[in-house]
Amino acid sequence: MRDEFLPFALPSIDDAEIDEVADTLRSGWITTGPKTHEFARVFAARCKTAYAVPVNSCTAALHLSLLAAGVGPGDEVVTSPMTFCSTANVIVHTGATPVFADIDPETMNIDPVEIEMRITDRTKAIIPVHYAGQPCAMDKIMAIASKHGLRVIEDAAHAPFAEYKGRVLGGIGDATCFSFYATKNITTAEGGMLTTNDEQLYKTASTLSLHGLSDHAWDRYGESGSWYYQVHLAGFKYNMFDLQAAMGLKQLEKFDALQARRDAVAAAYNAAFTGHPALIAPVARGNVKHVWHLYPMRLRTGVLDIDRGAFIDELRLKNIGASVHFIPVHLHPFYQERYGFKAGDYPAAEGAYEGEVSLPIYPRMSEADVQDVIEAVLDICEKHG
Ligand SMILES: Cc1ncc(COP(=O)(O)O)c(C=O)c1O
Repeated sequence: MRDEFLPFALPSIDDAEIDEVADTLRSGWITTGPKTHEFARVFAARCKTAYAVPVNSCTAALHLSLLAAGVGPGDEVVTSPMTFCSTANVIVHTGATPVFADIDPETMNIDPVEIEMRITDRTKAIIPVHYAGQPCAMDKIMAIASKHGLRVIEDAAHAPFAEYKGRVLGGIGDATCFSFYATKNITTAEGGMLTTNDEQLYKTASTLSLHGLSDHAWDRYGESGSWYYQVHLAGFKYNMFDLQAAMGLKQLEKFDALQARRDAVAAAYNAAFTGHPALIAPVARGNVKHVWHLYPMRLRTGVLDIDRGAFIDELRLKNIGASVHFIPVHLHPFYQERYGFKAGDYPAAEGAYEGEVSLPIYPRMSEADVQDVIEAVLDICEKHG
């Protein structure tokens, strides 16, 4: 057994990020400014989109996307129950009603057939969530959206530079939202990005991201700037700042190397777990580039004499951190009390949740770390099979 605890996730920060952040601190411009603009420009280019709005979280990006797409009170927005609460919370913040559509049990992504079943004359938008880093069935989702005149806001918190049928995520739906939270594939500690090809959506989201001001501080305080500004919308304080962007720029430079390590860990896990009688290894569809933010392994029902919670406890005893993604949103008290959701409403999501164990998967893991995780998982299965 390993001597040291292996955390569930760790960021890949080295001197490159540290030096760039120090450079920003010394530069005299620490909030939204040149580095934030550069980070947005490089990120948009990599997503092959015309525009990007840098913000302080994916939650902010989702909120701004919905508002800029015209979602408001009286509307319904369809999303997956297999997501972090913020995907649904932002729908509530716009005054619209969240409507869940069950998942495809194999990929744990929202099932387009279930989406179509939930559409009413109040439906305004769909938020597909690219769970674990695997793109949703976007052709089918875009076809449903165009048939019913709906906007598509993609939650790509897990999926920077993932590809669907050879297209990088970012410009497929009306807007795409990314997270740079500490555990994510690219991190700025906290941060997010909204990408879009829709000029009007971009302008509205960008204005809303900083109080609704006509000009952001960097434009006002520069040599050619003016003290004068106007408030065009009642906006938010959602802007990314240069200390975050300094980290992000360096993370972008090494993205391909970081991704290669994630791919290698996923391949080692798949080789060890695929076909195991007690385990369901995650499946990557043939037509996508999966970016493996998570490795969502599942315990096959009724094979082991312990449940998922006890399995995670045993991993911890073996010094391996693990987690669960996600507690389906409709099972949380707020959603049950406000909207009347109950256990049993989304059987595929609940079934996936019951056996799901997210194993550590991040670039800093050594070969020995990966082998320790594999050995621990197989040992527990052997002991409890
Ligand atoms: C699927 C999903 N959507 C949205 C978010 C929110 O991201 P952020 O923490 O950047 O607001 C998360 C965060 O973990 C997430 O997992």
